[in-house]
Amino acid sequence: LWNVDNLKEGESASPAIIEAGLCINRGEAVAFPTETVYGLGADAANDKAVDEIFAAKGRPGDNPLIVHIGKLEQWQDLASYVPDMAQKLATSFWPGPLTLVVPKKQTVSEKVTAGLSSVAVRMPDHAVARALINAAGVPVAAPSANRSGRPSPTKAEHVQYDLDGRIAGILNGGDAGYGLESTVVDCTGEKAVILRPGGITKEQIESVLGVNQVQQTSTIREEEAPKAPGMKYRHYAPSSPLVLVDDHMENYIEKERQAGKKVGVLAVEENKNTFQPLAHLFISLGSVENLEDIAAHLYHNLRIADQSDVDIILCETFLKRGIGTAIMNRLEKAASGS
Ligand code: TXA
Ligand code: MG
Repeated sequence: LWNVDNLKEGESASPAIIEAGLCINRGEAVAFPTETVYGLGADAANDKAVDEIFAAKGRPGDNPLIVHIGKLEQWQDLASYVPDMAQKLATSFWPGPLTLVVPKKQTVSEKVTAGLSSVAVRMPDHAVARALINAAGVPVAAPSANRSGRPSPTKAEHVQYDLDGRIAGILNGGDAGYGLESTVVDCTGEKAVILRPGGITKEQIESVLGVNQVQQTSTIREEEAPKAPGMKYRHYAPSSPLVLVDDHMENYIEKERQAGKKVGVLAVEENKNTFQPLAHLFISLGSVENLEDIAAHLYHNLRIADQSDVDIILCETFLKRGIGTAIMNRLEKAASGS
């Protein structure tokens, strides 16, 4: 664990970052903070290093990785061409929590793209992340730094809990900012398709490309969307069942209690006084007035619920608007539809 908590934007790499960059050059996998969640990075051009990522995470090999760049020029090493909409989105939102899927150069490893003809690219808005990529001097393939099936890590401790002993090291840069993974936008077709909602909202993307130039995957049938292999896996799943409750939370708590279950409740601070006395464990998600704050702590709260002794977790739902869309997307995946 290397502490780099106090690196400021624009500051040159500290010794810890240089050492982590050398690990990447040696073909090892290193965890690092970004403004979304912690990533597990390796040299995108080194197949054996990329294998290390899949092995450490226990991730299926047919789920492609995002390639992280530190400088805009690196895009040219990865994309066979940059579609106009991708250029516009990069100009507006990079560095930032937006991943752009573009046609790949032949030289980009099939291990990284899982055999797809496209590659997902992102420039993170985090001084430590970019300093690491620039220290390594190569594009860095990095999924979220959790064991496959666990919530993405938003703190170095989460990475340690999931991957200790399985990776070369962890750069500890404190809490990740957004707390949810980047928005993934497919730019290979006629319209931009949001494959995964995240920190950059549909509304923001529409403001750059125009409302009728943007689609969301939920409007596309699963069979017609083979471009998003990540979608067929169950993600972020807690070990006790998670159930989303739209309304009448009290009734559901009571029903589960009567069935002899220890009930955990995840709800907004405003509902604490109502639900806490009824539940075995109450976890406040934050104020409904501040959805950014709820997003930032969501995975940490899911981990706490997961590590508690409850038999079932009941969680409130949110309006699918702005960042609420990304919050609900992650909760629905964690609940696998219940
Ligand atoms: O915020 C983030 O995006 C974080 C940080 C570390 O950058 N990374 C992250 O990576 O969430 P990961 O591997 O957990 O999620 C990447 C998603 C997966 O759902 C994957 O299927 C999709 O991006 N993806 C990667 N390459 C793709 C491609 N060529 N076409 C379509 N989807 C792709
Ligand atoms: Mg992930």
